[in-house]
Amino acid sequence: MFTIITGAQFGDEGKGKIVDLISDKYDLVVRFQGGDNAGHTVKVGDTTYKLHLIPSGFLLDSRVLIGPGTVLNPQSLAQEIEMLAKGGIHIGPDKLGIDAKTSIIMPYHIELDGLKESSRAEKIGTTKKGIGFAYIDKVARDEIRLADLTDEGKFRARLEELATQKENMIRELGGDPSVVLDNKYIDLYIKLGQMFAPYMTDVSFEINKALEEGKNVLAEGAQGTHLDVIHGTQKFVTSSSTIAGSACANLGVGPTKVDNVLGIVKAYITRVGEGPLPTELKDDIGKQLQQVGREFGTTTGRVRRCGWFDLPILKKAVYLNGYTELALTKLDVLSNIHPLKVCVGYELKGKFIEYPPELTTDLGMCVPVYEELTGWSEDLTHVRQFSDLPDATRRYVSYLEEKIGVQIKYISVGPGREQTFTK
Ligand code: IMP
Repeated sequence: MFTIITGAQFGDEGKGKIVDLISDKYDLVVRFQGGDNAGHTVKVGDTTYKLHLIPSGFLLDSRVLIGPGTVLNPQSLAQEIEMLAKGGIHIGPDKLGIDAKTSIIMPYHIELDGLKESSRAEKIGTTKKGIGFAYIDKVARDEIRLADLTDEGKFRARLEELATQKENMIRELGGDPSVVLDNKYIDLYIKLGQMFAPYMTDVSFEINKALEEGKNVLAEGAQGTHLDVIHGTQKFVTSSSTIAGSACANLGVGPTKVDNVLGIVKAYITRVGEGPLPTELKDDIGKQLQQVGREFGTTTGRVRRCGWFDLPILKKAVYLNGYTELALTKLDVLSNIHPLKVCVGYELKGKFIEYPPELTTDLGMCVPVYEELTGWSEDLTHVRQFSDLPDATRRYVSYLEEKIGVQIKYISVGPGREQTFTK
């Protein structure tokens, strides 16, 4: 069985928690795009781990893989492995595989990301992790791959070849080019290359072999649908393709192998960074969602913008991903809001539309049209089955399910494993 999971909104929908919950059914859990711009929080007993790269399935028996369509900061990965080791969780090459072709995020990518963002009149609000510049180098065929990093001679030669170009780019943006050939980084990266050499693998081969043997594979996306570099809200997007089809292309698995596509949907909407969010709430309800939902980014600590559930955004996510089922997360956060509103369409240039306009500037001009639903005051965090939810909550879930047209399979009412149940 091959399952793909993606976020249906702007990221931070709670993918990690759902992957963690269902990964016991999967032999392989694989990350297919993005880098350490992503973040998820995993609770093990009383310890909380904030992770950015290691796929969420690592706690169970599954083998976890990082695919060649990702961009890898080896320093971040080494830190995650070390942090988990301190907690008694060993992530060796038997547990984690990284594709040999994975692009490495270099210190100059991070420098360029910061400089470019500062120079932009209209900011994107990137995570400043060097993601965009690492992907530019992949497409320009100027990347350093994991295989290069693990071979000191190749690594030094590649760096030498690229150095002038990178130094000039940094200089042009007013930065200090010495970062490019800084021996401190070069020595560190060579050490990291040696550390990760035993982890190198061919991810496409591992997945296809596993599927051939009747094993189960779960592909885990990062960020969310509307941050997709092709179909998202340009320019306020990340630099990779975040939608389900991208899993096949990035992992080297044919689309005929896909069995199901699970979309993760928050019971309201959030966005971190710039870009349109038509249902954004800048009032007390927005603050309540932020506080009750602990809406602060795992990667940058930035406050997430919050808003009402947006059906047009979801409709587009269903089209872009072809979801076969959904998981609705953070339903507990909506307690004590009366009434609840759901955006059913927008007013744009005097017209009512039910599907997001193609251009970001138009989306930015959309005025949401809402339907109101009865809220509830009960605390949901102790609920363990759908039938125990208050009537108004069940109505909210059924309303969304009917409007979206895809079954909601999982519901979560808190961060703990026991707080997610099937509908
Ligand atoms: P970048 O991926 O760092 O280049 O940032 C581009 C945009 O994507 C910014 O608006 C970020 O806030 C957003 N972004 C990147 N990663 C995540 C994520 O994991 N969750 C939510 N937003 C993200």
